[in-house]
Amino acid sequence: MSEALLEIEGLDAWYADSHVLFGVGLEVRQGQGVALLGRNGAGKSTLLKSVMDAGPRAVGRIELAGRPLAGLPTEKRARLGLMLVPEDRRIFPHLTVAQNLELAAHAAPRGVTALSVAEICKRFPMIAPLIERQGYQLSGGQQQLVAVARGVVARPRLMLLDEPAEGLAPLIVQELAEEVRRIREREGAALLLAEQNVSFARHCTDYVYLLDSGRVVFSGSWPEFDARPELKTRYLAV
Ligand SMILES: Nc1ncnc2c1ncn2[C@@H]1O[C@H](COP(=O)(O)OP(=O)(O)O)[C@@H](O)[C@H]1O
Ligand SMILES: [Mg+2]
Repeated sequence: MSEALLEIEGLDAWYADSHVLFGVGLEVRQGQGVALLGRNGAGKSTLLKSVMDAGPRAVGRIELAGRPLAGLPTEKRARLGLMLVPEDRRIFPHLTVAQNLELAAHAAPRGVTALSVAEICKRFPMIAPLIERQGYQLSGGQQQLVAVARGVVARPRLMLLDEPAEGLAPLIVQELAEEVRRIREREGAALLLAEQNVSFARHCTDYVYLLDSGRVVFSGSWPEFDARPELKTRYLAV
């Protein structure tokens, strides 16, 4: 068993007076892929943002490789090897794809050489033909791909991906799942993936947490998840 990379215990989170997460506990080991499932409004994005200190007010223990993150601002957390790819993608519309990728290099942790645009193109063959396009010229699927690739540039130890498959055509979803899986294998990066697309999540993770109304209602391996089909109907069906 490899050691814990991200450890969360007793996490509560709020937006102003609205209490959204309740005593959440979760662990991601070095290099592990963990899926965070749950329907709209379950608290998945709030959990990822709490790890980055990017929005909600969070109280509880969050540690990266044994180091408490409390009090550290978002940029410091990035320098420790955390990278959030938010659901709204945030591709700069009037910069090229290459420039969008280059901008991400500054978030590399100390002592880590960020990946060049050429290296990104090697890792994401689907990006190469897009490299000179402006952000606004990309389709939704292409933007999502560029956002994920940009998340890899700084070579994070843990990638936090927020619903990368949302709104993508099934064929693109499959290709993106392959890319994400390959990145994990090649870079040895761990992954915490918020998703509602179960087949996408299954393809690039080995462990599952299920959130409902801000609480963890299940955690286990994919076979353990599959052994309880009622989880899907009760917590994921729309
Ligand atoms: N910026 C915000 N301000 C106030 N409430 C929010 C904000 N973002 C999310 N919420 C609320 O927090 C709850 C969890 O939302 P969220 O974490 O986005 O869920 P998910 O990502 O699982 O769809 C929802 O009830 C949502 O309405
Ligand atoms: Mg969300």
